[in-house]
Amino acid sequence: MVANNTKELSAARAPGVSWDELAEADSRPVPEYLKQGSCPDLGSEPLSTERYTSPEFFQRENDRMWPRVWQFAAREEELRNPGDVVVYENAGRSYALTRQQDGSVRAFFNVCLHRGRKLRTADGKVGEFRCPYHGWTWNIDGSLKTIPSRWDFKHLDDEPLNLPEAEVASWGGFIFVREEQGGPSLKEFLGELPLHFERWLPERRYTTAWVAKVVPANWKATAEAFMEAYHVIATHPQIMPFTGDANSKYSLHGDNVNLAITPFGTTSPHLHGAGLDEQAIMDAFLRYNGRVVPKDSTIEVPAGVTARRAMGDFNRRRFSEMAGMDLDHASDAEVQDAFTYNVFPNFSPWGGFSPAVVYRWRPWQDQDHTLMEVRILGLVPEGEPLPDVVRMQMLEPHQNWAEALGVLGSIIDQDMGNLPHVQAGMKLSKTKKLQLANSQEVRIRHFHQTLDKYLADPGHGEVE
Ligand code: FES
Repeated sequence: MVANNTKELSAARAPGVSWDELAEADSRPVPEYLKQGSCPDLGSEPLSTERYTSPEFFQRENDRMWPRVWQFAAREEELRNPGDVVVYENAGRSYALTRQQDGSVRAFFNVCLHRGRKLRTADGKVGEFRCPYHGWTWNIDGSLKTIPSRWDFKHLDDEPLNLPEAEVASWGGFIFVREEQGGPSLKEFLGELPLHFERWLPERRYTTAWVAKVVPANWKATAEAFMEAYHVIATHPQIMPFTGDANSKYSLHGDNVNLAITPFGTTSPHLHGAGLDEQAIMDAFLRYNGRVVPKDSTIEVPAGVTARRAMGDFNRRRFSEMAGMDLDHASDAEVQDAFTYNVFPNFSPWGGFSPAVVYRWRPWQDQDHTLMEVRILGLVPEGEPLPDVVRMQMLEPHQNWAEALGVLGSIIDQDMGNLPHVQAGMKLSKTKKLQLANSQEVRIRHFHQTLDKYLADPGHGEVE
């Protein structure tokens, strides 16, 4: 499908300064590892539309890829006490993640071993798993507790009747499951990611908002709408005065992780010559970037100071107060830019010190639908207890994201405006080909290249 060419993409350079050059001019240095990420040339082959529209391709993903990858299934704060259960369902599987007495989390296949009823249909707290159909019951560690009329099941005396389990591992407050045993550990799977997030305290964050909606488009097409800043010029033109869309830095970190850093507080190279002054850049930023600043904020940009630096100063102070700790060391970039990480296959946590966005995309019944989830993770001030758990708010088809997520939601609504037509268009395509930009869409190519490794080789991911 795609050539694996590791030479650097140096020719495909957007006009204007790069993110590295912007970061170099910031008031404080960014961590060295953010400067080091590279964007290899992965080739220019088109992608086939069938990857998104074919039921057979979808089935191969379900059979070969999903059981072998680590999937973000829950946040630690959703499972605070022994007996707390989160039901995580994806790609034809259902898991009951359960906090144990010893503090660990186990993920049971959420199906009764008698006649197959789902044991749990919702999150909650349990003292045991009792199947509502005939009453077979398991302890919260998955061991069998009782079978009504046990005398009638003599033939099962030698059967293992504990609930089957998936593997569980966690990083940074995120709990992951993997269906099949073996293969790389979560640490190996994530590669450099934990190092990148170390400064940003993911384990001290908690879910402050969690919104989901079914999107009438393939799960990969939906995820890919959030993998590049190339679409800003046509889909989100209102953010161009303060967004360096074409200055974004794209980098790949092993098979499973890639990153886009989109700078804010600087004007899009596409608006070159617009002559915006620094105050105008700041005013547009405040109007359209609700993730970073409170609604109706005003910030005066002092003479001789850039909007980017003024925003850096403002956010450092604000996030220090929110986190209850001194963030004076944080670079201007880390308190305003979009650090959009993708972890194969369907998990996207944003980095930086800002309230963090987390995306997750789950195929929803078929190749034409996706459950898209957006969480916002805030920082818990040092020494303070975790706030109450926020549960997922499912939007109805007629509801907009803006209703639940304000300005950020209105940006997502613009993305959502494309997706049904992308899915329909791919089915109608005469060429059946999708053409990708070499640099700005390299993360999409990277994602498909990793997917192909699983589809071609069911053993991909196993440690040698
Ligand atoms: Fe669960 Fe019968 S199906 S007890």
